[in-house]
Amino acid sequence: MNVIAPDIAALGYLVAAICFILALKGLSAPRTARVGNLVGAAGALLAVVIAFLSTDFVGPNLIVVLVALGLGVLIAVPWARIVKMTDLPQLVAIFNGVGGGAAATVGIMELTEWGGASTHLATPATAFAVLIGAVSFSGSMLTFAKLQELMTARPIVVPAAPAVMGGTMLASLILAIVTAVTGNVWAGVALLVTGLASGVLLVLPVGGADVPIVISLLNAFTGLAVAASGFAMPNTLLLVAGTLVGASGSILTMAMANAMGRSVAGILFGALKGGSTAGSTQASDRPVRRAQADDVAIALAYASRVVVVPGYGLAVAQAQHTCAELVTELRERGVDAVYGIHPVAGRMPGHMNVLLAEANVPYELLIEAEDVNASMPSTDVVLVVGANDVVNPAARSDTSAPIYGMPIINADQAGQVFFLKRSMRPGFAGIENELLFAERTQLLFGDAKESLGAVVAALKEV
Ligand code: TAP
Repeated sequence: MNVIAPDIAALGYLVAAICFILALKGLSAPRTARVGNLVGAAGALLAVVIAFLSTDFVGPNLIVVLVALGLGVLIAVPWARIVKMTDLPQLVAIFNGVGGGAAATVGIMELTEWGGASTHLATPATAFAVLIGAVSFSGSMLTFAKLQELMTARPIVVPAAPAVMGGTMLASLILAIVTAVTGNVWAGVALLVTGLASGVLLVLPVGGADVPIVISLLNAFTGLAVAASGFAMPNTLLLVAGTLVGASGSILTMAMANAMGRSVAGILFGALKGGSTAGSTQASDRPVRRAQADDVAIALAYASRVVVVPGYGLAVAQAQHTCAELVTELRERGVDAVYGIHPVAGRMPGHMNVLLAEANVPYELLIEAEDVNASMPSTDVVLVVGANDVVNPAARSDTSAPIYGMPIINADQAGQVFFLKRSMRPGFAGIENELLFAERTQLLFGDAKESLGAVVAALKEV
């Protein structure tokens, strides 16, 4: 449209960049997260409007942009509204992949525009955008397929995987150098192809509990690719926004890997060394002690301190409101009832905090793993609601377990443990949990929401 002067556009981009920084600040704490999200969305909207109004579209390009905008809104808005919270990682994966693909496409378009023989200063950044954007696109799409169970979530190791992966990466490196030095568009297209192959080869061997971490890593890749395409175009806002995404994605990846006691390299290349990261989904047939809702209610009512450990099953059952009702009831009776929050409980960072915030649980009652563990020996009852891996003592003792080294909530040190789950199937890591068979453990089988409802009803009778 070209109706905004370049200076005004630059000022608008600056405001949008400030919005992104404030959004990240807001998102760092549960209390300010909602506002942070809105500020970020406002910044993104401002950026799109300014880019649209300050660009001089040639020929049919305006129509193409309008159709793309319309399609994007038509697909993304309803999808984001109806997506279940447990499916958010898939949504993040696909949105992230689209971002990486866009950065790679921008890179190819720039190479086409420069006409092949360019030794433009920005060609190295363009080669980077094409390669990393392509890796992120194909890797994210494969991650989506794994999480959506369109294919197995188990690690897939292709024959001679290290050689195939090494060869593809070497070819990508050589093509990236050729593209950077010559600006040749066909070298760029070949780089795009090897980048796509690298993304597939990188994600195929990752399985089980490690898949969500890979999304975070690919998110960081997309950020870096977008920053590089911002340098190539040149567009300062893309540069700033991409750098922010790259940095925050890298920090998140490290934080998640630390919380799981793993290294990022171990996650990416573990399966290549022969170590599978996904276990079985088979239910155990070993005998356990069963409990009824009344038993749980009585134990809770007469306890001094209770720790509720929520997990993925709480999200599946959408039991956050019933869970909050139970804790409120206990606190009103004078029981010191709190929530023990593990950093990787659920399937995405902050999953439990988001769920419980939805049920208006006060943040003061959400106690982090380290702090809740300090008081575990003096805790009377631990109520494990739809969680498994995050209380599995194998993480401390079984060196062969895929979760070995992950800090856990030490529920086994409490006086009594109740598990609320539907069956004897294992958690995400696919391994047996010895705590289920311990002497002080009882299981209340059923959907978490129904079981909690029955416990609340029984508690009112005690
Ligand atoms: P899990 O170990 O996956 O256990 C979930 C439990 O919930 C299962 O025992 C399942 O047993 C039960 N469940 C499922 N639906 C239920 C329902 N409707 N009602 C009652 N119970 C239900 O979950 P967790 O303890 O939260 O651990 C999270 C896992 O994900 C860890 O392995 C972690 O490493 C991994 N992970 C998390 C993240 C982030 S960032 N959160 C990232 C990467 C990996 P039944 O099927 O028998 O009911």
